[in-house]
Amino acid sequence: MYKELDLFGRETIRFVPTFRKKQNLFSQYEAFTEKFEPKKTTDDCYTPPEVFDLVLQYVGKNCDLSGKKIIRPFYPGGDFEALEYPADGVVIDNPPFSILSKIVRFYTKKEIPFFLFAPHLTLLGCCHDCTAIVVSADIKYDNGAVVKTSFVSNMFGEAKVIGDAELCQEFKKLAANQKANLPKYDYPDHVLTVSAVAWCVEKGISVRFDQKDLVFVRGLDSQKVHGKGIFGAGFLISEKAAAEKAAAEKAAAEKVNKLIWELSEKELQIIRSLG
Ligand SMILES: C[S@@+](CC[C@H](N)C(=O)[O-])C[C@H]1O[C@@H](n2cnc3c(N)ncnc32)[C@H](O)[C@@H]1O
Repeated sequence: MYKELDLFGRETIRFVPTFRKKQNLFSQYEAFTEKFEPKKTTDDCYTPPEVFDLVLQYVGKNCDLSGKKIIRPFYPGGDFEALEYPADGVVIDNPPFSILSKIVRFYTKKEIPFFLFAPHLTLLGCCHDCTAIVVSADIKYDNGAVVKTSFVSNMFGEAKVIGDAELCQEFKKLAANQKANLPKYDYPDHVLTVSAVAWCVEKGISVRFDQKDLVFVRGLDSQKVHGKGIFGAGFLISEKAAAEKAAAEKAAAEKVNKLIWELSEKELQIIRSLG
């Protein structure tokens, strides 16, 4: 367990993952291979800090958090029922959605204040004795999954359902910023990616590359030092193929935003009659 200060200077308690399994060669190998498996279930959707800050800001604006400790009890290998909750603790976290009803019942019974991320579509089914805060935010989590998210809380008194348009807009702005800040990768002529081929094809330019001109690669050496690779993998290509690719891309670029008007038969006849 460790403590950190949030952006408002409040103390947040984070629990450090504990691995109950005894480590042996096999479990280490399992952990190693697991790292490469894409985790896409909602239980594995980790919250980007900017999303958590927005939520914290919202709770701070609508509930009295002065002198409260923010508790985040949900983490790999965690057991939220076994934790000791401080009397001045407020649980604000993204829980595993698969057991959300159980979590809500637990905090309600223990009278522990909470504000939790919740699956939007099944929201009303899990807000027993608490408030459903409908936001319909398309949140992009750290594993890349975009999940429509709303919230449940027992800190909003008698309100049963709140639809918060302002928070919905805040999440839209955040999503737009996240998109604008995405780095755009540009590859040299000697690298062929599926996106490069698609770009030409979509602009009406067909291409063909033969096996003898290509070598399969998952990423470039310059990317590896940053832990990155070519999305969807790609090929290193020969001088000849690179020249053909460059020519195809040039032809495709010339077609961008260009609408070519065709001549009618009548106009062609006029042209032929000239001179
Ligand atoms: C949706 S993830 C969110 C993790 C983190 N709270 C965040 O906001 O990024 C839910 C986490 O809860 C963990 N979890 C599953 N069952 C749990 C339990 N009974 N007690 C505590 N954590 C649990 C999962 O392993 C997963 O890491």
